[in-house]
Amino acid sequence: MYVCVCSSVTERQIKENLNTKHGSLDNLRKELGVGQECGCCISITMELIEQKQVESSKSLG
Ligand code: FES
Repeated sequence: MYVCVCSSVTERQIKENLNTKHGSLDNLRKELGVGQECGCCISITMELIEQKQVESSKSLG
């Protein structure tokens, strides 16, 4: 599923990026081009970042 239609970025690409790097909107912008055009994808991208942070904090115990 596309999260960012403007830059053709999928949810999977974002999740893979978050798994390998420190998750930030800036990083995703620079590396994948998320949120550089209309900005419609920013809120869902932020949700994916938060989801990842929650998962990471759970795994830390
Ligand atoms: S959908 Fe991501 S910038 Fe437009």
